Amino acid sequence: MPATAIVLAAGEGTRMKSAHAKVTHKLLGLPLVTWVVRSAKEAGCERVIVVVGNGADEVRSILEPEGVEFVEQTERLGTGHAVRCVRDAVGELSGPTVVLSGDSPLVRPQTIASLIATATEAHNACTVLAMEPADPTGYGRLDVDAAGQVTAIIEHKDCTPEQRESLTLCNSSIYCFCGRRLSAGLDLIGNDNVQGEYYLTDMVGIFVGQGEPVAYLRAEDDSELLGINSRSQLAAASKVMQRRINEELMAAGVTMIDPDLVWAGPDVTVGRDTTIYPMTFLNGSTTIGEDCVVGPNTRLTNCTVGNACTVDETVGVDAVMDNEVSCGPRAYLRPGTHLLDGSKAGTHVEIKNSTIGRGSKVPHLSYIGDTTMGEGVNIGAGSITCNYDGYHKSPTVIGDNVFVGSDTMMVAPVKIGDGALVGASSCITKDVPDNALALERNDQVNLEDYARLRRERIEKGL
Ligand code: UD1
Ligand code: CA
Repeated sequence: MPATAIVLAAGEGTRMKSAHAKVTHKLLGLPLVTWVVRSAKEAGCERVIVVVGNGADEVRSILEPEGVEFVEQTERLGTGHAVRCVRDAVGELSGPTVVLSGDSPLVRPQTIASLIATATEAHNACTVLAMEPADPTGYGRLDVDAAGQVTAIIEHKDCTPEQRESLTLCNSSIYCFCGRRLSAGLDLIGNDNVQGEYYLTDMVGIFVGQGEPVAYLRAEDDSELLGINSRSQLAAASKVMQRRINEELMAAGVTMIDPDLVWAGPDVTVGRDTTIYPMTFLNGSTTIGEDCVVGPNTRLTNCTVGNACTVDETVGVDAVMDNEVSCGPRAYLRPGTHLLDGSKAGTHVEIKNSTIGRGSKVPHLSYIGDTTMGEGVNIGAGSITCNYDGYHKSPTVIGDNVFVGSDTMMVAPVKIGDGALVGASSCITKDVPDNALALERNDQVNLEDYARLRRERIEKGL
Protein backbone atom coordinates (compact mmCIF):
# COMPACT_ATOMS: atom_id res chain seq x y z
CA MET A 1 0.00 0.00 0.00
CA PRO A 2 1.48 3.40 -0.93
CA ALA A 3 2.56 5.63 1.93
CA THR A 4 0.98 8.92 2.90
CA ALA A 5 2.91 11.76 4.50
CA ILE A 6 1.49 14.32 6.89
CA VAL A 7 3.67 17.40 7.23
CA LEU A 8 3.01 19.50 10.33
CA ALA A 9 3.50 23.12 9.38
CA ALA A 10 0.94 25.12 11.32
CA GLY A 11 3.24 26.45 14.04
CA GLU A 12 4.27 30.06 14.36
CA GLY A 13 7.95 29.80 15.11
CA THR A 14 8.10 32.64 17.62
CA ARG A 15 11.85 32.30 18.06
CA MET A 16 12.48 33.18 14.41
CA LYS A 17 11.31 36.74 15.25
CA SER A 18 9.79 37.00 11.82
CA ALA A 19 6.71 38.34 10.06
CA HIS A 20 6.67 35.12 8.05
CA ALA A 21 5.72 31.62 9.14
CA LYS A 22 8.76 29.60 10.16
CA VAL A 23 8.45 26.96 7.46
CA THR A 24 8.56 29.61 4.70
CA HIS A 25 12.13 30.57 5.58
CA LYS A 26 14.64 29.42 3.03
CA LEU A 27 17.45 26.94 3.23
CA LEU A 28 19.74 27.21 0.20
CA GLY A 29 17.01 29.03 -1.67
CA LEU A 30 14.25 26.51 -0.99
CA PRO A 31 11.62 27.03 1.75
CA LEU A 32 11.97 24.66 4.71
CA VAL A 33 8.61 23.03 4.12
CA THR A 34 9.41 22.45 0.44
CA TRP A 35 12.48 20.43 1.44
CA VAL A 36 10.33 18.23 3.67
CA VAL A 37 7.62 17.76 1.02
CA ARG A 38 10.18 16.84 -1.63
CA SER A 39 11.91 14.33 0.64
CA ALA A 40 8.56 12.70 1.44
CA LYS A 41 7.75 12.42 -2.26
CA GLU A 42 11.17 11.08 -3.11
CA ALA A 43 10.78 8.50 -0.35
CA GLY A 44 7.71 7.20 -2.18
CA CYS A 45 4.88 8.97 -0.34
CA GLU A 46 2.25 9.34 -3.02
CA ARG A 47 0.00 11.56 -1.01
CA VAL A 48 1.40 14.49 0.97
CA ILE A 49 -0.95 16.36 3.29
CA VAL A 50 0.35 19.60 4.77
CA VAL A 51 -1.21 20.99 7.95
CA VAL A 52 -1.26 24.78 7.69
CA GLY A 53 -2.24 27.40 10.22
CA ASN A 54 0.05 30.34 10.87
CA GLY A 55 0.77 32.08 7.58
CA ALA A 56 -1.43 29.52 5.82
CA ASP A 57 -1.79 31.58 2.63
CA GLU A 58 1.96 32.00 2.25
CA VAL A 59 2.60 28.31 2.88
CA ARG A 60 -0.10 27.32 0.39
CA SER A 61 1.29 29.55 -2.34
CA ILE A 62 4.83 28.30 -1.75
CA LEU A 63 3.68 24.70 -2.08
CA GLU A 64 1.36 25.34 -5.03
CA PRO A 65 3.72 23.70 -7.56
CA GLU A 66 4.53 20.69 -5.36
CA GLY A 67 1.22 18.86 -5.74
CA VAL A 68 0.20 18.50 -2.09
CA GLU A 69 -3.09 18.61 -0.19
CA PHE A 70 -3.75 21.13 2.56
CA VAL A 71 -5.59 20.85 5.82
CA GLU A 72 -6.10 23.94 7.92
CA GLN A 73 -5.61 23.75 11.67
CA THR A 74 -7.33 26.91 12.86
CA GLU A 75 -6.27 26.56 16.51
CA ARG A 76 -2.86 25.25 17.49
CA LEU A 77 -3.76 22.74 20.15
CA GLY A 78 -0.77 20.46 19.68
CA THR A 79 0.76 17.93 17.30
CA GLY A 80 -1.89 15.30 18.15
CA HIS A 81 -4.63 17.81 17.40
CA ALA A 82 -2.94 18.67 14.09
CA VAL A 83 -3.05 15.04 12.95
CA ARG A 84 -6.66 14.77 14.14
CA CYS A 85 -7.53 17.75 11.93
CA VAL A 86 -6.12 15.80 8.99
CA ARG A 87 -8.22 12.74 9.75
CA ASP A 88 -11.33 14.86 10.22
CA ALA A 89 -10.72 16.63 6.91
CA VAL A 90 -9.67 13.74 4.66
CA GLY A 91 -11.30 10.76 6.37
CA GLU A 92 -9.80 7.58 7.83
CA LEU A 93 -6.13 7.16 7.05
CA SER A 94 -4.81 3.87 5.76
CA GLY A 95 -1.49 2.34 4.87
CA PRO A 96 1.86 3.57 6.17
CA THR A 97 1.38 7.14 7.36
CA VAL A 98 4.52 9.15 7.91
CA VAL A 99 4.38 12.24 10.10
CA LEU A 100 7.05 14.87 9.48
CA SER A 101 7.70 18.37 10.77
CA GLY A 102 7.82 21.23 8.32
CA ASP A 103 10.72 22.68 10.28
CA SER A 104 13.04 19.66 9.90
CA PRO A 105 14.29 20.03 6.33
CA LEU A 106 17.42 17.90 6.50
CA VAL A 107 15.83 14.48 6.65
CA ARG A 108 16.95 12.40 3.68
CA PRO A 109 14.46 10.58 1.46
CA GLN A 110 16.35 7.30 2.11
CA THR A 111 15.83 7.76 5.85
CA ILE A 112 12.08 8.17 5.41
CA ALA A 113 12.03 5.20 3.05
CA SER A 114 13.81 2.93 5.52
CA LEU A 115 11.50 4.10 8.31
CA ILE A 116 8.53 3.08 6.16
CA ALA A 117 10.17 -0.26 5.31
CA THR A 118 10.93 -1.05 8.96
CA ALA A 119 7.42 -0.10 10.04
CA THR A 120 5.63 -2.14 7.39
CA GLU A 121 7.80 -5.22 7.80
CA ALA A 122 7.20 -5.33 11.56
CA HIS A 123 3.50 -4.36 11.30
CA ASN A 124 4.11 -1.79 14.02
CA ALA A 125 1.34 0.57 15.03
CA CYS A 126 4.04 3.21 15.27
CA THR A 127 7.75 3.39 14.52
CA VAL A 128 9.57 6.40 15.92
CA LEU A 129 12.70 7.74 14.28
CA ALA A 130 14.97 8.25 17.27
CA MET A 131 18.17 10.18 17.84
CA GLU A 132 20.69 10.82 20.58
CA PRO A 133 21.66 14.49 20.47
CA ALA A 134 24.59 15.70 22.56
CA ASP A 135 22.19 18.06 24.29
CA PRO A 136 18.73 16.47 24.60
CA THR A 137 17.17 19.52 26.28
CA GLY A 138 13.71 20.23 24.90
CA TYR A 139 13.19 16.91 23.15
CA GLY A 140 10.65 14.25 24.02
CA ARG A 141 12.36 11.16 25.54
CA LEU A 142 11.75 7.56 24.55
CA ASP A 143 11.12 5.08 27.30
CA VAL A 144 12.19 1.73 25.91
CA ASP A 145 11.65 -1.69 27.60
CA ALA A 146 14.03 -4.63 27.69
CA ALA A 147 12.52 -6.06 24.50
CA GLY A 148 13.33 -2.84 22.65
CA GLN A 149 9.70 -1.74 22.44
CA VAL A 150 8.90 1.91 23.08
CA THR A 151 6.56 2.17 26.04
CA ALA A 152 6.15 5.94 26.15
CA ILE A 153 7.42 9.27 24.85
CA ILE A 154 7.66 11.79 27.62
CA GLU A 155 8.01 15.44 26.68
CA HIS A 156 11.04 17.17 28.20
CA LYS A 157 8.74 19.48 30.14
CA ASP A 158 6.85 16.51 31.55
CA CYS A 159 9.93 14.47 32.52
CA THR A 160 11.09 14.00 36.08
CA PRO A 161 14.67 15.14 36.75
CA GLU A 162 15.67 11.44 36.85
CA GLN A 163 14.06 10.79 33.46
CA ARG A 164 15.86 13.80 31.97
CA GLU A 165 19.11 12.21 33.14
CA SER A 166 18.52 8.57 32.25
CA LEU A 167 16.50 8.75 29.02
CA THR A 168 18.91 9.81 26.30
CA LEU A 169 17.06 8.48 23.27
CA CYS A 170 15.00 11.34 21.84
CA ASN A 171 12.01 11.73 19.58
CA SER A 172 12.89 13.28 16.22
CA SER A 173 9.20 14.00 15.62
CA ILE A 174 9.31 11.78 12.54
CA TYR A 175 7.16 8.67 12.76
CA CYS A 176 5.64 6.03 10.58
CA PHE A 177 2.19 5.02 11.80
CA CYS A 178 -0.22 2.40 10.63
CA GLY A 179 -2.87 4.76 9.22
CA ARG A 180 -5.82 2.65 10.32
CA ARG A 181 -4.67 2.26 13.93
CA LEU A 182 -3.64 5.93 14.09
CA SER A 183 -7.07 7.11 12.88
CA ALA A 184 -8.81 4.96 15.46
CA GLY A 185 -6.60 6.08 18.35
CA LEU A 186 -6.45 9.85 17.82
CA ASP A 187 -9.59 10.58 19.81
CA LEU A 188 -8.04 8.99 22.88
CA ILE A 189 -5.33 11.65 23.14
CA GLY A 190 -5.95 13.99 26.07
CA ASN A 191 -4.34 17.28 27.04
CA ASP A 192 -3.53 16.65 30.66
CA ASN A 193 0.10 17.75 30.57
CA VAL A 194 2.30 20.72 31.42
CA GLN A 195 1.53 22.52 28.13
CA GLY A 196 -2.17 21.61 28.04
CA GLU A 197 -1.67 20.39 24.45
CA TYR A 198 -2.82 17.29 22.58
CA TYR A 199 0.51 15.53 22.05
CA LEU A 200 0.90 13.18 19.11
CA THR A 201 3.53 11.45 21.22
CA ASP A 202 0.75 10.21 23.50
CA MET A 203 -0.22 7.78 20.73
CA VAL A 204 2.67 5.64 21.93
CA GLY A 205 1.18 5.08 25.39
CA ILE A 206 -2.25 4.56 23.83
CA PHE A 207 -0.94 1.85 21.50
CA VAL A 208 0.99 0.18 24.29
CA GLY A 209 -2.21 0.07 26.36
CA GLN A 210 -3.93 -1.63 23.42
CA GLY A 211 -1.12 -4.17 23.16
CA GLU A 212 -0.05 -2.78 19.78
CA PRO A 213 3.66 -2.86 18.94
CA VAL A 214 5.61 0.42 18.98
CA ALA A 215 9.26 0.37 17.94
CA TYR A 216 11.93 2.87 17.10
CA LEU A 217 14.50 3.19 14.39
CA ARG A 218 17.78 4.81 15.38
CA ALA A 219 18.67 7.41 12.75
CA GLU A 220 22.05 6.84 11.11
CA ASP A 221 22.90 10.51 11.06
CA ASP A 222 21.46 12.79 13.74
CA SER A 223 22.34 15.88 11.71
CA GLU A 224 19.40 14.96 9.45
CA LEU A 225 17.02 15.54 12.31
CA LEU A 226 18.06 19.04 13.23
CA GLY A 227 14.88 21.02 13.76
CA ILE A 228 14.83 24.74 13.07
CA ASN A 229 13.46 27.03 15.72
CA SER A 230 15.81 30.01 15.42
CA ARG A 231 17.89 31.88 12.86
CA SER A 232 20.97 30.36 14.38
CA GLN A 233 19.65 26.85 13.79
CA LEU A 234 18.70 27.91 10.26
CA ALA A 235 22.32 28.87 9.64
CA ALA A 236 23.53 25.59 11.13
CA ALA A 237 21.14 23.61 8.93
CA SER A 238 22.23 25.58 5.85
CA LYS A 239 25.79 24.56 6.62
CA VAL A 240 24.82 20.88 6.87
CA MET A 241 22.99 21.05 3.55
CA GLN A 242 25.81 22.99 1.87
CA ARG A 243 28.27 20.25 2.89
CA ARG A 244 25.93 17.52 1.72
CA ILE A 245 25.38 19.08 -1.71
CA ASN A 246 29.05 19.95 -2.19
CA GLU A 247 30.13 16.43 -1.18
CA GLU A 248 27.78 15.06 -3.84
CA LEU A 249 29.14 17.45 -6.47
CA MET A 250 32.74 16.60 -5.61
CA ALA A 251 31.93 12.88 -5.65
CA ALA A 252 30.57 13.41 -9.17
CA GLY A 253 33.87 14.93 -10.35
CA VAL A 254 33.68 18.63 -9.56
CA THR A 255 36.72 20.36 -8.04
CA MET A 256 36.17 22.91 -5.31
CA ILE A 257 39.06 24.95 -4.01
CA ASP A 258 37.18 25.55 -0.77
CA PRO A 259 33.79 23.84 -0.45
CA ASP A 260 32.96 25.94 2.59
CA LEU A 261 32.77 28.94 0.28
CA VAL A 262 30.64 27.45 -2.48
CA TRP A 263 26.86 27.52 -2.17
CA ALA A 264 24.90 25.44 -4.63
CA GLY A 265 21.15 24.97 -4.42
CA PRO A 266 19.45 21.58 -4.55
CA ASP A 267 18.46 21.82 -8.21
CA VAL A 268 21.89 22.80 -9.48
CA THR A 269 23.92 20.45 -11.67
CA VAL A 270 27.63 20.72 -12.47
CA GLY A 271 29.52 18.61 -15.00
CA ARG A 272 32.73 16.78 -14.24
CA ASP A 273 36.15 18.38 -14.39
CA THR A 274 34.61 21.76 -13.71
CA THR A 275 36.43 23.79 -11.06
CA ILE A 276 34.53 26.08 -8.75
CA TYR A 277 36.41 28.84 -6.98
CA PRO A 278 35.39 30.37 -3.65
CA MET A 279 32.50 32.76 -3.16
CA THR A 280 30.43 31.18 -5.86
CA PHE A 281 26.65 30.99 -5.45
CA LEU A 282 24.77 28.73 -7.83
CA ASN A 283 21.07 29.25 -7.41
CA GLY A 284 17.77 28.01 -8.77
CA SER A 285 17.89 25.76 -11.80
CA THR A 286 21.46 26.66 -12.79
CA THR A 287 23.26 23.96 -14.77
CA ILE A 288 26.94 24.01 -15.61
CA GLY A 289 28.64 21.73 -18.08
CA GLU A 290 32.03 20.00 -18.04
CA ASP A 291 35.52 21.52 -18.00
CA CYS A 292 34.38 24.94 -16.88
CA VAL A 293 36.07 27.30 -14.45
CA VAL A 294 33.50 29.14 -12.37
CA GLY A 295 34.23 31.88 -9.86
CA PRO A 296 35.60 33.33 -7.74
CA ASN A 297 32.91 35.83 -6.72
CA THR A 298 30.23 34.56 -9.04
CA ARG A 299 26.49 34.39 -8.59
CA LEU A 300 24.41 32.51 -11.15
CA THR A 301 20.64 32.16 -10.87
CA ASN A 302 18.73 29.95 -13.30
CA CYS A 303 21.64 30.06 -15.77
CA THR A 304 22.64 27.43 -18.27
CA VAL A 305 26.37 27.15 -18.88
CA GLY A 306 27.74 24.78 -21.53
CA ASN A 307 31.13 23.06 -21.58
CA ALA A 308 34.58 24.63 -21.31
CA CYS A 309 33.34 28.05 -20.22
CA THR A 310 35.15 30.53 -18.00
CA VAL A 311 32.84 32.46 -15.70
CA ASP A 312 34.90 34.80 -13.57
CA GLU A 313 33.37 37.31 -11.12
CA THR A 314 30.09 37.22 -12.96
CA VAL A 315 26.52 37.81 -11.94
CA GLY A 316 24.08 36.03 -14.21
CA VAL A 317 20.31 35.73 -14.05
CA ASP A 318 18.28 33.66 -16.52
CA ALA A 319 21.20 33.72 -18.96
CA VAL A 320 22.48 31.04 -21.30
CA MET A 321 26.09 30.42 -22.27
CA ASP A 322 26.83 27.83 -24.91
CA ASN A 323 30.28 26.23 -25.13
CA GLU A 324 33.71 27.85 -24.71
CA VAL A 325 32.17 31.12 -23.62
CA SER A 326 34.21 33.52 -21.52
CA CYS A 327 32.65 35.92 -19.01
CA GLY A 328 34.09 38.50 -16.69
CA PRO A 329 35.82 39.43 -14.59
CA ARG A 330 32.84 41.54 -13.60
CA ALA A 331 30.23 40.77 -16.17
CA TYR A 332 26.53 41.17 -15.52
CA LEU A 333 24.33 38.93 -17.63
CA ARG A 334 20.68 39.79 -17.24
CA PRO A 335 17.63 37.79 -18.31
CA GLY A 336 17.44 36.83 -21.96
CA THR A 337 21.18 36.92 -22.55
CA HIS A 338 22.39 34.17 -24.86
CA LEU A 339 26.09 33.88 -25.52
CA LEU A 340 26.76 31.50 -28.39
CA ASP A 341 29.82 29.25 -28.77
CA GLY A 342 33.17 30.95 -28.28
CA SER A 343 31.72 34.37 -27.51
CA LYS A 344 32.86 36.71 -24.78
CA ALA A 345 31.36 39.15 -22.29
CA GLY A 346 34.41 40.73 -20.69
CA THR A 347 35.15 43.22 -17.94
CA HIS A 348 32.42 45.55 -16.70
CA VAL A 349 30.09 44.39 -19.43
CA GLU A 350 26.34 44.29 -18.98
CA ILE A 351 24.16 42.37 -21.40
CA LYS A 352 20.39 42.09 -21.34
CA ASN A 353 17.90 40.31 -23.62
CA SER A 354 20.49 39.89 -26.37
CA THR A 355 22.09 37.22 -28.48
CA ILE A 356 25.84 37.38 -28.93
CA GLY A 357 26.78 35.35 -32.01
CA ARG A 358 29.46 32.69 -32.32
CA GLY A 359 32.91 34.00 -31.57
CA SER A 360 31.69 37.57 -31.07
CA LYS A 361 33.37 39.62 -28.40
CA VAL A 362 32.21 42.37 -26.07
CA PRO A 363 35.43 42.65 -24.09
CA HIS A 364 35.31 45.88 -22.08
CA LEU A 365 32.97 48.37 -20.43
CA SER A 366 29.90 47.98 -22.62
CA TYR A 367 26.15 47.78 -22.34
CA ILE A 368 24.35 45.62 -24.87
CA GLY A 369 20.56 45.46 -24.59
CA ASP A 370 17.79 44.14 -26.86
CA THR A 371 20.39 43.28 -29.46
CA THR A 372 20.82 40.55 -32.01
CA MET A 373 24.49 40.23 -32.81
CA GLY A 374 25.88 38.00 -35.57
CA GLU A 375 29.12 36.01 -35.67
CA GLY A 376 32.67 37.29 -35.46
CA VAL A 377 31.73 40.73 -34.20
CA ASN A 378 34.06 42.87 -32.12
CA ILE A 379 32.59 45.60 -29.97
CA GLY A 380 35.13 48.25 -28.94
CA ALA A 381 35.55 49.32 -25.33
CA GLY A 382 32.89 51.56 -23.89
CA SER A 383 30.31 50.98 -26.61
CA ILE A 384 26.65 51.13 -25.77
CA THR A 385 23.38 50.22 -27.38
CA CYS A 386 21.03 53.07 -26.48
CA ASN A 387 17.93 50.91 -26.34
CA TYR A 388 15.72 53.12 -24.18
CA ASP A 389 14.33 56.55 -24.99
CA GLY A 390 12.65 57.01 -21.66
CA TYR A 391 9.42 55.42 -22.95
CA HIS A 392 10.19 52.49 -25.20
CA LYS A 393 12.81 49.81 -25.64
CA SER A 394 14.08 49.43 -29.22
CA PRO A 395 16.16 46.73 -30.89
CA THR A 396 19.65 46.86 -32.34
CA VAL A 397 20.74 44.43 -35.04
CA ILE A 398 24.43 43.92 -35.67
CA GLY A 399 25.36 41.71 -38.63
CA ASP A 400 28.20 39.20 -39.00
CA ASN A 401 31.83 40.29 -38.85
CA VAL A 402 31.05 43.85 -37.84
CA PHE A 403 33.80 45.87 -36.16
CA VAL A 404 32.54 48.57 -33.84
CA GLY A 405 35.16 51.08 -32.70
CA SER A 406 35.48 52.11 -29.07
CA ASP A 407 33.03 54.48 -27.45
CA THR A 408 30.33 53.99 -30.04
CA MET A 409 26.71 54.81 -29.23
CA MET A 410 24.22 52.80 -31.25
CA VAL A 411 20.90 54.59 -30.92
CA ALA A 412 18.14 52.01 -31.38
CA PRO A 413 16.27 51.09 -33.41
CA VAL A 414 19.27 50.71 -35.65
CA LYS A 415 20.86 48.08 -37.87
CA ILE A 416 24.51 47.66 -38.72
CA GLY A 417 24.99 45.53 -41.83
CA ASP A 418 27.33 42.53 -42.29
CA GLY A 419 31.00 43.37 -42.55
CA ALA A 420 30.49 47.03 -41.64
CA LEU A 421 33.04 49.13 -39.81
CA VAL A 422 32.08 51.83 -37.32
CA GLY A 423 34.68 54.46 -36.47
CA ALA A 424 35.50 55.01 -32.81
CA SER A 425 33.38 57.47 -30.88
CA SER A 426 30.57 57.55 -33.41
CA CYS A 427 26.98 58.13 -32.43
CA ILE A 428 25.12 55.89 -34.85
CA THR A 429 21.52 56.91 -35.40
CA LYS A 430 21.04 55.65 -38.97
CA ASP A 431 21.28 52.14 -40.35
CA VAL A 432 24.72 51.21 -41.71
CA PRO A 433 24.75 49.25 -45.00
CA ASP A 434 26.71 45.99 -45.37
CA ASN A 435 30.46 46.50 -45.69
CA ALA A 436 30.24 50.31 -45.21
CA LEU A 437 32.36 52.51 -42.96
CA ALA A 438 30.19 54.60 -40.67
CA LEU A 439 31.80 57.61 -39.08
CA GLU A 440 30.13 60.25 -36.97
CA ARG A 441 32.52 62.68 -35.35
CA ASN A 442 33.78 66.27 -35.69
CA ASP A 443 36.98 67.02 -37.57
CA GLN A 444 40.01 67.13 -35.37
CA VAL A 445 41.80 70.47 -34.91
CA ASN A 446 45.57 70.49 -34.25
CA LEU A 447 46.94 73.87 -33.09
CA GLU A 448 50.67 73.74 -33.77
CA ASP A 449 52.89 74.50 -30.75
CA TYR A 450 49.93 75.51 -28.61
CA ALA A 451 50.78 73.20 -25.73
CA ARG A 452 54.39 74.33 -25.47
CA LEU A 453 53.43 78.05 -25.52
CA ARG A 454 50.84 77.47 -22.80
CA ARG A 455 53.31 75.65 -20.61
CA GLU A 456 55.85 78.46 -20.91
CA ARG A 457 53.22 81.05 -20.13
CA ILE A 458 52.15 79.28 -16.95
CA GLU A 459 55.73 78.63 -15.80
CA LYS A 460 56.57 82.34 -16.17
CA GLY A 461 53.51 83.24 -14.12
CA LEU A 462 51.92 85.21 -16.94
C1 UD1 B 1 8.00 17.80 19.22
C2 UD1 B 1 7.73 16.48 19.93
C3 UD1 B 1 8.97 16.06 20.72
C4 UD1 B 1 10.15 15.97 19.79
C5 UD1 B 1 10.36 17.29 19.06
C6 UD1 B 1 11.44 17.15 18.02
C7 UD1 B 1 5.33 16.53 20.47
C8 UD1 B 1 4.34 16.68 21.57
N1 UD1 B 1 6.62 16.64 20.82
O1 UD1 B 1 8.18 18.78 20.24
O2 UD1 B 1 8.73 14.82 21.33
O3 UD1 B 1 11.32 15.64 20.51
O4 UD1 B 1 9.15 17.67 18.39
O5 UD1 B 1 11.69 18.36 17.40
O6 UD1 B 1 4.94 16.30 19.35
N2 UD1 B 1 2.54 21.90 14.99
C9 UD1 B 1 1.36 22.05 14.36
N3 UD1 B 1 0.23 22.27 15.11
C10 UD1 B 1 0.25 22.33 16.45
C11 UD1 B 1 1.51 22.17 17.10
C12 UD1 B 1 2.64 21.95 16.35
O7 UD1 B 1 1.28 22.01 13.14
O8 UD1 B 1 -0.81 22.52 17.05
C13 UD1 B 1 3.76 21.67 14.19
C14 UD1 B 1 4.80 22.73 14.40
O9 UD1 B 1 4.64 23.76 13.41
C15 UD1 B 1 6.08 21.97 14.16
C16 UD1 B 1 5.76 20.56 14.64
O10 UD1 B 1 4.35 20.48 14.64
O11 UD1 B 1 6.41 21.91 12.78
C17 UD1 B 1 6.34 20.26 16.02
O12 UD1 B 1 5.71 21.09 16.96
P1 UD1 B 1 6.48 21.77 18.16
O13 UD1 B 1 5.54 22.54 18.97
O14 UD1 B 1 7.68 22.49 17.63
O15 UD1 B 1 6.93 20.50 18.99
P2 UD1 B 1 8.17 20.37 19.95
O16 UD1 B 1 7.87 21.03 21.24
O17 UD1 B 1 9.39 20.77 19.24
CA1 CA C 1 10.00 21.93 17.19
